[in-house]
Amino acid sequence: MAKLKILTAGNPVLRQVATEVTKIDKKIIKLLKDMAETMYAADGVGLAAPQIGVSKRIVVIDVGDGLLELINPVITKREGSVVGGEGCLSVPDYEGEVERAEYVECEFTDRKGQRMLIQTDGLLAICCQHEIDHLDGILFIDKAKSISMKQKERFE
Ligand code: NI
Repeated sequence: MAKLKILTAGNPVLRQVATEVTKIDKKIIKLLKDMAETMYAADGVGLAAPQIGVSKRIVVIDVGDGLLELINPVITKREGSVVGGEGCLSVPDYEGEVERAEYVECEFTDRKGQRMLIQTDGLLAICCQHEIDHLDGILFIDKAKSISMKQKERFE
């Protein structure tokens, strides 16, 4: 396993629309491991592959309930709305208030190739939306109602 460098805003890879994973091979499995290690080392709760320079539709998340590995995730349902504080490992010095759906359903493929469904609200719902935005070249600062210099550690 290897801890990877996290790209910061200004790097063009963060602005690309990432490509779908068509085959889950050894490289993808290694990438999932490296992404998880990188996320945990950075004290983040989510990391998208473009953040480590790989323009593929892969996300890892751990909001405290264990590691989730999402390959080709798609949000299939959104309900309600909620405004909350967000940060991002790729925008390290800032935080902002972002409006998100309160409840989401997210389909994804797991490392075994099985299509799975998450139905969630709370921090995991926010995190799914934030990380999937990364796959479309979108950063939270694009959507934030207000942005400020970081005062304390918040959602990464
Ligand atoms: Ni982020």
